[in-house]
Amino acid sequence: MSSTVRPLGSRNDPRLSGRAVKGIAFDEAAIADRVFELGREITAAYPDGDLLVLGLLKGSFIFLSDLVRQISRPLQVDFLVASSYDGMVSTGTVNLVYDPETELEGKDILLVEDIVDSGRTLNRLMTILKERRPRSLEICALLHKRIAEGLKFEAKFVGFDAPNEFLVGYGLDHAENFRHLPYIASLQ
Ligand code: IMP
Ligand code: MG
Repeated sequence: MSSTVRPLGSRNDPRLSGRAVKGIAFDEAAIADRVFELGREITAAYPDGDLLVLGLLKGSFIFLSDLVRQISRPLQVDFLVASSYDGMVSTGTVNLVYDPETELEGKDILLVEDIVDSGRTLNRLMTILKERRPRSLEICALLHKRIAEGLKFEAKFVGFDAPNEFLVGYGLDHAENFRHLPYIASLQ
């Protein structure tokens, strides 16, 4: 599912503190509908086994909390942190800042990511996580810009194909701002 960016118009959102936002890419209702569908897809894809939903902080925190409430089977939740961005520019090096304490071996791992951009984060993390010998390892990304070259692992579950613009809200930030927007907006 793709989207064009709808202008914010005269809507004056106090959360933006006067910052110009180009428009809304995905509104609250569209996100809720898609998260509901993703929950059903994920429930159907894991009929048995121990499912560990592993959220990539900080960007996935809102998506993950909505998503797990739409998955109708037992599961566990843990988080890890990978950092590669400085403002709007990718630094290119992906660092794993926090290691999940949870045992991954033998479990079905669903790595939840906010957005796939260059794909560097996923390439690196998936390689690290595979070494922990999970039963299966899949990716669920809320947004996918479809611009990644050399993506070694494709996301099995994707919320929306995203415009190639810098997006904020619903967990996504610019310099740690805008994560709390209930919609996804384009900054440029
Ligand atoms: P990648 O490694 O280039 O695929 O980037 C992945 C990470 O960069 C995501 O998890 C985000 O935290 C961040 N990122 C990439 N594109 C955007 C964007 O448009 N808005 C906000 N964060 C982004
Ligand atoms: Mg970020």
